[in-house]
Amino acid sequence: MNLSPASELSLQELSTLFSRSFADYFVQVPDSPCLFDARVRSEHISLVDSRVAREGSEAVGLILIARRGRVSRIAAMGIIPAYRNRKLGGAMLGPLVEEARARGDTRMLLEVIEQNIPAVKLYERMGFQRVRRLVGFAGTPAPEPASPLKEVEPAECTRLLPEGLPWQLAPSTVAGLALPARAFRLGPAVAVLGDTSAPTLALSAIAVEPAARDQEADTRLLRAIAAAHPGNPLAVSAIVPEGLCERFFLQASLVWSALSQLEMTYVPD
Ligand SMILES: CC(C)(COP(=O)(O)OP(=O)(O)OC[C@H]1O[C@@H](n2cnc3c(N)ncnc32)[C@H](O)[C@@H]1OP(=O)(O)O)[C@@H](O)C(=O)NCCC(=O)NCCS
Repeated sequence: MNLSPASELSLQELSTLFSRSFADYFVQVPDSPCLFDARVRSEHISLVDSRVAREGSEAVGLILIARRGRVSRIAAMGIIPAYRNRKLGGAMLGPLVEEARARGDTRMLLEVIEQNIPAVKLYERMGFQRVRRLVGFAGTPAPEPASPLKEVEPAECTRLLPEGLPWQLAPSTVAGLALPARAFRLGPAVAVLGDTSAPTLALSAIAVEPAARDQEADTRLLRAIAAAHPGNPLAVSAIVPEGLCERFFLQASLVWSALSQLEMTYVPD
């Protein structure tokens, strides 16, 4: 097996390899250069530091590395089905952990679906430790028409988010979300939605001005979004730290998603 920089492949080739490496996965990973490009930009994935794994001339796996300052993140790691369960994962990840150490990263992060036993085993074997559980929600809030929602920039939500959120909810990720993601404000609450034309509305972030917290402005915003998109359920990926805001989502008639994630970290010596 040899590893080469992902930046040597075209966006189309990377998107196809990404999709094939996540075949038979918990969620569908479509071959979409457009979605792949949006992920690279908003999550600060460095294609120069990301690696394609090859057996001979065949591309068999991919590790995407995101970087912010001295922290790096395994943004995705996958192997095409025929090459899984042969300890290739460790052989791919080991050199990248060494590279992170060599460039002086203070820690590496990742999130893994808790029910993904082979992946959790691999990361624990490589020295990653569990930090916290991340949970998701889905459902249809009771619709409540409101004065029209005002479209705003995702950055308006960014400045209201608290410190210490996981990578995909961090202000730098949310600020980088671009069309088809769109942000809407109702009074003091701002929400960022993924593609608003999709049958399920992905809620990427929601936050309320500090002075108006505990006044259910966020619930009113969710209900107004439901009224603006009748019949379309809302889904929050498993990226929300457990214990942070389940009361809010459950109050808004959403329920826990079946899949949860573990946030894990590795601190190089
Ligand atoms: C997750 C993945 C990268 C692991 O790489 P790999 O090279 O196949 O992993 P390994 O061969 O080292 O196997 C990992 C461990 O899981 C175990 N395992 C494999 N399938 C299993 C199963 N169905 N149930 C329980 N354990 C299983 C293996 O025995 C091994 O255990 P060990 O560490 O105790 O020896 C690879 O399977 C993959 O690409 N999966 C699809 C994409 C994915 O899930 N990516 C991770 C996203 S965070």
